Amino acid sequence: MDADKIRSDFPLYESQNNDVIYFDNACQTMRPKQVIDAMNEYYCKFPACGGRSIHRLATQVSMKIDEAREKIASFLGCEPSNLVFTKNCTESLNIVARGYPFKKGSSVLTTDMEHNSNHVPWISSKINHKFVKTPASGIFDFDEYLKNLNRDVSIVSMVHTNNVTGTTIPAKEVIEAAHDNGSLVMLDGAQSTPHQKIDLKKLDVDMFAFSMHKMLGPSGVGVLYAKDEILKKMDPLVGGGGGVGTTDYNSVTFLPSPEKFESGLLNYSGIIGSGAAIDYLTKIGMEEIEEHERGLNTFVTSRLKDNESIQILDPVEPSLRSGIFSFNINGIDSHDIAMICDEISAIAIRSGMHCAHPFFVSRGINGCARASFYLYNTKEECAKFIDTVEYIVRTFSD
Ligand SMILES: Cc1ncc(COP(=O)(O)O)c(C=O)c1O
Repeated sequence: MDADKIRSDFPLYESQNNDVIYFDNACQTMRPKQVIDAMNEYYCKFPACGGRSIHRLATQVSMKIDEAREKIASFLGCEPSNLVFTKNCTESLNIVARGYPFKKGSSVLTTDMEHNSNHVPWISSKINHKFVKTPASGIFDFDEYLKNLNRDVSIVSMVHTNNVTGTTIPAKEVIEAAHDNGSLVMLDGAQSTPHQKIDLKKLDVDMFAFSMHKMLGPSGVGVLYAKDEILKKMDPLVGGGGGVGTTDYNSVTFLPSPEKFESGLLNYSGIIGSGAAIDYLTKIGMEEIEEHERGLNTFVTSRLKDNESIQILDPVEPSLRSGIFSFNINGIDSHDIAMICDEISAIAIRSGMHCAHPFFVSRGINGCARASFYLYNTKEECAKFIDTVEYIVRTFSD
């Protein structure tokens, strides 16, 4: 994979004279000009609504939306009718937590290190919430999972790849065990879909959620995959125009999915841009992207892991952490690390609790700094990051 060639597709590098080092990819990635062009094409050539009006502009929009849905479906190995467009991963997860008719008194089983998007919706749901404890190694404890997987668990809802540690759960085994127990499984794929090949049919997962803006797509587009029988049983989060077949003064008949869950005018340019992002990732290849990120993470880890003032959040082994490098420096607040990285080296990293407060609070850690890599990042950028972190340690650490 030629990261230098890839970089020429990203206007940010040109506008910043290549000076910015963007390592906040787990939050949002940059967008290539192919995605921006696809979005602009919508606004310039057919800026109408889809699925309603029958004039020529609207027809083009409807066709482009169908096309984008088909591209995402083939990227994930599923049928287009099982994909619902939402505004982000958070909304996708909320649709299930709020809309599925879970049995009263039953439970959801999550890990103890979920992003708030797969935590808050369950806190305010009507079912009980149980957690699988993760050991200090940071690696999913399958025996602990099985111990918690009792008859009362109606759904296992878990982060596929963790946004703080970068670890990935053994999804196939988790799903098989849950199905043997009669439980549904939803995966929060926000950090896995952008970084590894996902095959939903092979996984046999019941529901899967992610955001396009973490994988070169526009902001404000999320996706929910769900099997047919689940889409049929589930109530939509919002109702209104476009989602219904007919209404009278007292009742409503919803359209079949995905329209049932897509009431109101959609983010058409965003969905069309998402199709272009999928084209871009497909052309590069997900296996190549995964290998590239792992190479960068291995390089950074090998240079910083023996520095006694630096703590890498477990596991230290980089091959277990996707493109995520989370760390602390003795005596320095994580926000200060991020601020200094930005100030002296124009390196953009994330700091704080990464919307995973229970993880940090339960372990008594006051947040961490996180560098997260993607396909356009280079070894030279990583070398500058290593030098910057070492400078911070020398200058400010206890
Ligand atoms: C693991 C995980 N789940 C869910 C989300 C929420 O994604 P969004 O803000 O796009 O809804 C994030 C965002 O960082 C995440 O990392």
